[in-house]
Formats: sequence, C-alpha cells, structure tokens
Amino acid sequence: MPSTPALLDETTLQTRIAELGKEIREVYGEDTPITCIGVLKGSIIFLSDLVRTIDGPVELEFLGVSSYRGTESTGEVRITHDLHNSIAGKHVLVVEDIVDTGLTLSYLREMLEVREPASLRVVALLDKPSRRTSPVQVEFTGFEIPDAFVVGYGLDLNERYRNLPYVGIYQED
Ligand code: IMP
Ligand code: MG
Repeated sequence: MPSTPALLDETTLQTRIAELGKEIREVYGEDTPITCIGVLKGSIIFLSDLVRTIDGPVELEFLGVSSYRGTESTGEVRITHDLHNSIAGKHVLVVEDIVDTGLTLSYLREMLEVREPASLRVVALLDKPSRRTSPVQVEFTGFEIPDAFVVGYGLDLNERYRNLPYVGIYQED
C-alpha cells in the first residue's frame, strides 16, 4: 500500500500562504487589481486559499496546460484551456502548484509576455530547485522542497490525492 507521510501540514501551509498574500499585496501596492491566473488543475486549492489572504482587488483566470516529456532535455507544453479575457495592460500573477524542471513555467511566461500584460509575476507554492533544467524566474515561492514526488493540496499522481489537506511525500512502500 502506498503511503503519503506529511511534508507540510495544514498549519504550516496556511501560515506561509498568509505571509505570501501580504507580501504579494505589498509588492503590487494596495489599489492595484491583480489578475491571478491559476494553472489547472494542480494550483486551484492553493489559489483559493491564497486569494483570500490578498486584500483589495483581485481577478481570477484559469489556464490549462499539459506537459509532455519525451526526454529530460526536451519537452512540449500544450494549452488545453485558454484565458477568457485579455490580459493586455493587466498586472498578472501566475499561480502554480510546483516548479520542477521549469519547463512548463518557461513556456507559460513566454506565451503570456506576448499578450502584453502591464506586469507578469509568478507565485509557486512549491519549488524543487535541484530538478531545474529550464531556468525560470519565480517571484514568490512558498516552500523549497527536496527532490521527492509530492501529492496532496491540489497535487496529484494520475489524478489522485489532490484532496489531501496537506502536502505529503508519495511512497510506494
Ligand atoms: P515542470 O514543467 O517540470 O516544472 O513541471 C511542472 C508540473 O509538473 C507541475 O505543475 C506539476 O503538475 C507536475 N509536477 C512536478 N513535480 C511534481 C510532484 O512532485 N508532484 C506532483 N506533480 C508534480
Ligand atoms: Mg501544474
């Protein structure tokens, strides 16, 4: 039976997320509308907790992506669900669950820059810096974690475990 021992429990997550929300609002300034783009599906639980810790104007958009990795060095990212509204002139904050190789986020940053937002920043709940092959800018990070496969709090293994209220390490056992 696989097990999912906790790496980050609920209190640890919520405490850090509240700090992030404050930090984010301070960077944008109190009256600036922030267009938060949740990257489906992994980020939605983080996004829903995070936006409730950001005071002032926030708008929500969603982007669906799927990444295929043929080899470690090359990869292809495909948009499965595009934004509903233009982001031209908007202050955009991409909300990601986890940055691993950085491939998905590098692609997303490039693709969104072309649409000429007023600004583009990224918040990732988790970062595995030791896995990075595509260097990419991440303005706000929740936690740096070691190279382990994690599930829960939105993160899945083959669509399972997203509903765990904490982030756990997936162990085959
Ligand atoms: P990247 O393109 O390699 O940075 O991969 C990013 C995507 O891979 C994330 O948005 C997740 O969907 C998925 N991913 C990477 N590491 C993990 C993990 O440990 N658990 C669950 N999903 C992961
Ligand atoms: Mg993802």
